[in-house]
Amino acid sequence: MPTNHPHLCEPIRVGNVVFRNRMFSAPVGGAEITADCCIDRSTTAFYELRAQGGAANVTASECMVHPATDASHAFHLNTTQPGSLSGFAHTADAIMRHGAIPSLELSHSGQFAGTYLTDKSKKEGLAQFGPSDGTRTDGHPVKALTKAQIDDIVAAYGQTAALAKRVGFQMLMVHGGHGWLINQFLSPYFNKRTDEYGGSLENRARFACEVLNAVRAAVGKGFPIEFRMSGSEFFEGGYDLDEGVRIAQLLESRVDILHVSAGSYQRGFSITHPSQFRAHGCNVYLAAEIKKHVSIPVATVGGLNDPDQMEEIIASGQADIVEMARALMADPFLPRKVMAGADDEILPCLRCFVCMAERPVTATRSCAVNPVIGRELDGTEVVPVLNPKRVLVAGGGPGGLKAALTAAERGHEVILCEAEDSLGGISKGEVVLPFKREMADNARVLGLLCERAGVDIRLNTRVTPEVAREIAPDAIIVAVGSESIVPPIPGINSLHVIGATELYLRADEAKGDIAVIGGGLSGTEAAIWFGMQGHKVTLLSMETEVAPDANIRQRPILLSELEEQQVTALTQSTCTKIGEGSLSYKDADGAEHTIKADTVILAAGQRARRADADALRDCAPFVRLIGDCVRPSNVTIATTQGYHAALDI
Ligand SMILES: Cc1cc2nc3c(=O)[nH]c(=O)nc-3n(C[C@H](O)[C@H](O)[C@H](O)COP(=O)(O)O)c2cc1C
Ligand code: SF4
Repeated sequence: MPTNHPHLCEPIRVGNVVFRNRMFSAPVGGAEITADCCIDRSTTAFYELRAQGGAANVTASECMVHPATDASHAFHLNTTQPGSLSGFAHTADAIMRHGAIPSLELSHSGQFAGTYLTDKSKKEGLAQFGPSDGTRTDGHPVKALTKAQIDDIVAAYGQTAALAKRVGFQMLMVHGGHGWLINQFLSPYFNKRTDEYGGSLENRARFACEVLNAVRAAVGKGFPIEFRMSGSEFFEGGYDLDEGVRIAQLLESRVDILHVSAGSYQRGFSITHPSQFRAHGCNVYLAAEIKKHVSIPVATVGGLNDPDQMEEIIASGQADIVEMARALMADPFLPRKVMAGADDEILPCLRCFVCMAERPVTATRSCAVNPVIGRELDGTEVVPVLNPKRVLVAGGGPGGLKAALTAAERGHEVILCEAEDSLGGISKGEVVLPFKREMADNARVLGLLCERAGVDIRLNTRVTPEVAREIAPDAIIVAVGSESIVPPIPGINSLHVIGATELYLRADEAKGDIAVIGGGLSGTEAAIWFGMQGHKVTLLSMETEVAPDANIRQRPILLSELEEQQVTALTQSTCTKIGEGSLSYKDADGAEHTIKADTVILAAGQRARRADADALRDCAPFVRLIGDCVRPSNVTIATTQGYHAALDI
């Protein structure tokens, strides 16, 4: 099938290398790091998947070049550690054997060394070096690098680059953005030096130039070097796009691709990793501006996942290459689907930050919609079965859909019954929130894939034991989900009370001042959405904080969005009565208050449909309960359990 995206799929030559399309796999830190900072086979497999999925290149990342002054959370490529060489060699090989170009990102954290260490106690003993003396916001002192140290680090970039080429990488990325060391030198905010490395832009760029000269000397002409930079630092005192353009101009003769990202990690992740509240491709204009002023290929990155948008970016000349990180974890096969004209089968990234939240806590990587991520070696691949069975899936939410699809892909005969008149379960309601649209899209695409895989989908069919016995399945996967909790508050059944999960049907009824009962993720998101529409919103939480169920990367973004939308968040507050146009609550001290509330949104949590699920326990030789009907949780758990239930049949 021909692609609908000819520009996106057109090969591009850079230096001596031809890339098979314009879709690059942006750097993503690997799954696990060994105790001696090496890449192991699980990380190799983590990167290999994106090469299999059709990306033009795959950038393995977090290779620190100078552990003596960095010692961050990253990997290390070093001749004195044999494990480091073989791990990198296997990774380059695993990427290359699927037709993708293996690239390695060389980096140095500078004064932010150790920021993302899983073992925070190790941070205490670390030395932090940056361009200038100072103190980090977390109180750690920073020492200015001496000229001798700078020379040593520059040399280390060259040595690591030579090793990277030797072990099989066919291009390199030098990380000069996101607030790490090279960016710190470029930044007037961090760089207060008075020697030849500070002051004028030419001086601030000297370190980057020396690094790139050393890397070029190590790899030779024609070997692509990609320089990752922030087009603008996006904070007061940092450099802006005008300076970003000048930086690009100063560096372009030394590199082959300018890769334009944005922002700085230390100022939050919503710019560097555009959050669900920012537009897809919100950084493209930075690349487009830089492209006007340089003559080498420019790459753009940030919240990209829509093939039509990416096609337009390339076709209109805003950038030559598009890069994706999260979109290729959610669906590593996105590039192949685009190349094959099957873009309606792409499973979208939710921008939920699950993939970033686990690593600093549990040192693992996972994805909300792709259960394989971070577990590539765990025998999780979908293997066809020798003896196909009849599988009944009860419930068409994301967990049930994933289960049905996986079972069908394995060759089972699958019947999926959904009690309502459409698929998607709790996810379909997310269609109403623009920043959660992908959640509904994910369920929609899973439904389409189920249809194409031959799943017999029966809507308006509740699976009772009688229905199950009639179908006579060999296996049942029970994914009947959860229902909203309706607390016994006087007035709760009034017409102006709308459940958060029925918002997609009744959003038009909401008017005036809004009170949201329930400060979990769903209540918080509803409050933000109403705030965006100009309503005066009060969010009531019985807990000590709002959105306690959000992950550590997502939560700060939600909190700042609540602030942005001027939502009044009341914690330790319990609703006591809902009146006509008002709501009463008790605060932490037991004092009673009444506020104006023309509409009340109920987001007091979910209760498992346990009884419905338990009723099916004896209806087949294999029965597995998954997702919310076991315990209300989230799409990650529902999807993972659905997938594995289908693999276990
Ligand atoms: C889980 C994860 C790990 C990442 N690790 C790195 C990294 O090691 N080095 C780096 O330069 N960028 C890293 N990034 C940033 C991405 O390369 C990319 O700039 C960012 O995610 C925005 O692109 P996206 O919207 O396509 O995800 C990481 C992103 C994610 C989601
Ligand atoms: S975990 Fe969430 S943000 Fe990360 S890739 Fe998966 S869907 Fe996207």
